[in-house]
Amino acid sequence: MKVAVIGNGGREHALAWKLTQSPAVSHCYCLPGNGGAAALAKAENVPLAVEDLAGISQFCQAQGVDLVVVGPELPLSLGLADHLRDLGLKVFGPSQVGAQLEASKSWAKALMERAGVPTAQGETFSDLESALAYLARQTAPIVVKADGLAAGKGVIVAQTLLEAETALKDLFAQGFNPVVVEEFLAGEEVSVLALADGQTVIPLLPAQDHKRIGEGDTGPNTGGMGVYAPAPIAPAERMAEITRTILEPTLGQLRAEGIDYRGVLYAGLMVSPQGEIKVLEYNCRFGDPETQAILPLLADDLAEILLAAAEGRLQTLPPLTWKPASAVCVVMAAQGYPGAYAKGETITGIEAAEAQGLVVFQAGTRFTNQGLVTDGGRVLGVTALGDSLESAVVRVYQNIDQIRFNGAYYRRDIAHRALRRG
Ligand code: AMP
Ligand code: GLY
Repeated sequence: MKVAVIGNGGREHALAWKLTQSPAVSHCYCLPGNGGAAALAKAENVPLAVEDLAGISQFCQAQGVDLVVVGPELPLSLGLADHLRDLGLKVFGPSQVGAQLEASKSWAKALMERAGVPTAQGETFSDLESALAYLARQTAPIVVKADGLAAGKGVIVAQTLLEAETALKDLFAQGFNPVVVEEFLAGEEVSVLALADGQTVIPLLPAQDHKRIGEGDTGPNTGGMGVYAPAPIAPAERMAEITRTILEPTLGQLRAEGIDYRGVLYAGLMVSPQGEIKVLEYNCRFGDPETQAILPLLADDLAEILLAAAEGRLQTLPPLTWKPASAVCVVMAAQGYPGAYAKGETITGIEAAEAQGLVVFQAGTRFTNQGLVTDGGRVLGVTALGDSLESAVVRVYQNIDQIRFNGAYYRRDIAHRALRRG
């Protein structure tokens, strides 16, 4: 089968890496792909932007692509999956209506309320005055969220009401409308990504991301600085509870409302100190960098699984099988990220690190006459597997320094929470 992967990040490199391991896959088009995707056997980059819905649709139809896997939320929220399905193509990724689960926090919240899915209490406002009046009756900490896609910059966890007031004013002034104000949930976060085919939902291994730039979870938020899986905070019984009380009711509600949701149902969850689980947010796609830790653990053929999801027959598959191992992915970023950073720094040592058993997923990279250079804030996702989480952590940090570029920065404490728990 011919597959196409839409996107150019580390997540898409990991998807193409795993898909091209399938004996069933003869060719993988990466639209537009990156330096890592281009180097994969059976893969080819095609310079089409993820927002170019017509270009992507025409290309996939002309090439006779059998399965399109959409990485990022932006094209899904613009309706790429609908365009492709209208042409008769098979797609792993929800429709524009389904993608509102991520693209509109107020829509997702209302859907969760109708489904009886536990989530933070909140209200949605389309004018500043009512939002401020509501805020005056609340206590801090409290959370203010832009409704739409904001590339990770739309959520403010305010420690004081004054901070929340400033955040509300800023968001409305920037044109974000509506805005959600919701209760602060304390606890530990876990990402549960599940595959959905409209009817059936199958969770993948739970993962824990590290969103802050600095060690000890300090400093500004980023797209994600490292991740590990499976996260010990969500053992099998808790995963069963999450599936029963969160994932299945959400997919059931979507179906009841006429939305045939085929793609990733990604629940960002908060586990309270008492063990109560609530949804912080939904995403409509694979996580980045969660994918770079989860897929190397999957023992099955991803192409067959995603095709089954696209065709609405996940129920016919045997249970997923996982390697009896843990994975850690450490993100190497450019100095300055998530603020301003340089591009074009030469990257060396990827082969040496891979010779030690690491898997290096490329995110912000580009091939030039000088070889591989940096081309983004998050440059690489470096993954190691181990029999235990401890051994995976040791392996990644023993070998990551083989990879060099000017200004390379990474956190040395990925998985610290799980290791502390013991
Ligand atoms: P979101 O984009 O909604 O996942 O929010 C980004 C981050 O903000 C989350 O990963 C949490 O760390 C934090 N966050 C969001 N909502 C809440 C909440 N209700 N309580 C506490 N933290 C939150
Ligand atoms: N790792 C967070 C995300 O993909 O949204």
